[in-house]
Amino acid sequence: MILTQENLLAALKMVRLPGARSDIVEAGQISRLDLSENTVFIEIQMSELNPTFEKSLRFQIEKEIQRVDANAQIAVEFRKIGAVTEEAKAPVTEKKISSRVATMIAVGSGKGGVGKSSLSVNLAIAFQQLGYTVGILDCDVYGPSIPTMLKVVDQKPMLLNGKIQPIEAYGLKIMSAGFFVEEGQSIIWRGPMIHKLIQQFVNDVAWDGTDILIVDLPPGTGDAPLSLAQTMPLTGAVMVSMPQQVSIIDVHKGISMFNQVKVPILGVIENMSHFICPHCDHSSEIFDRGKVKKFCENLGVSYLGDVPIEPKLRELSDAGKPFMLDHQNSSAGKAITQIAKRLQPFVKTYDDLKSNGGEEIKLVL
Ligand SMILES: Nc1ncnc2c1ncn2[C@@H]1O[C@H](COP(=O)(O)OP(=O)(O)OP(=O)(O)O)[C@@H](O)[C@H]1O
Ligand SMILES: [Mg+2]
Repeated sequence: MILTQENLLAALKMVRLPGARSDIVEAGQISRLDLSENTVFIEIQMSELNPTFEKSLRFQIEKEIQRVDANAQIAVEFRKIGAVTEEAKAPVTEKKISSRVATMIAVGSGKGGVGKSSLSVNLAIAFQQLGYTVGILDCDVYGPSIPTMLKVVDQKPMLLNGKIQPIEAYGLKIMSAGFFVEEGQSIIWRGPMIHKLIQQFVNDVAWDGTDILIVDLPPGTGDAPLSLAQTMPLTGAVMVSMPQQVSIIDVHKGISMFNQVKVPILGVIENMSHFICPHCDHSSEIFDRGKVKKFCENLGVSYLGDVPIEPKLRELSDAGKPFMLDHQNSSAGKAITQIAKRLQPFVKTYDDLKSNGGEEIKLVL
């Protein structure tokens, strides 16, 4: 059966508080309940945190919801009542501003290895060069490459005033799943774990003051990117494709996924489009340059431009320094700046957000 607010609440009414007669809904202990497709996030407030109670409640909650939908992805979080009350005292606008950034752009693709992370980093610098305050959120839980590309691999974020402090490099605020996983360590990410991590990345990281947050997504259209697209308040998604048909087919799947979860597609980039010889400046059309533009025209989505193969970009990426810092006037550099400029109409700044009273800015396309 498909989960709805009604059957979800009915399921939760079956969950008894250990040692009490009332259920968790009746007892008013659910402080937050989010349902998006088959993903459920529940926050339970308790007067005292108690691991035995939590275990028993979590077990019952999962069991009752999975009775309705066996494939439901469930994340349950417990919060001490005092903490909730303190938070509730904060002025509403402040609370909203501190948990949001003005513009959140996801960089995705259907396929792996097409240059999402490289373009995330270099677009972030291009936006910075246009005068914005920029952050990067690396949501690639399977292969986080942003710490390597920005040379912050060994850094560990600190908790200050209840907020996770992003790592700073090249003037960018950075948060990555990679900061919490040892190199070489493999974690099996279940849907609810990803959901919880993303909630924390969006709500508990001190992003304040950020105009644009670039979100580097994992490849594919599986559980992880889907859950991310559903969970994050995205302004829209930028898709990256190489010119080959196999890449375009996968990008098409990626666009369908975003359409299903109502995330606007801001446009598509053709990366590694062609090769410009560093010696004679001749452009070699190694692949099938222009295919992505045609695809965009047929599908009615915006084409953002192409970025050539640039050996220096690959070399600097491995060395942990963004290519755009010193090479913004190269062909690839100009192309990336151009793409950032084409995205500017979608950008709202943090000042815009504040003057709007901190309300979420909805994109009207
Ligand atoms: N325009 C480019 N010119 C030269 N090399 C590039 C270019 N774009 C990306 N690369 C290189 O291609 C490789 C893959 O890029 P990247 O890691 O950014 O892809 P990805 O889509 O994020 O991959 P994954 O799906 O694994 O996360 C990297 O070595 C990167 O340096
Ligand atoms: Mg990547």
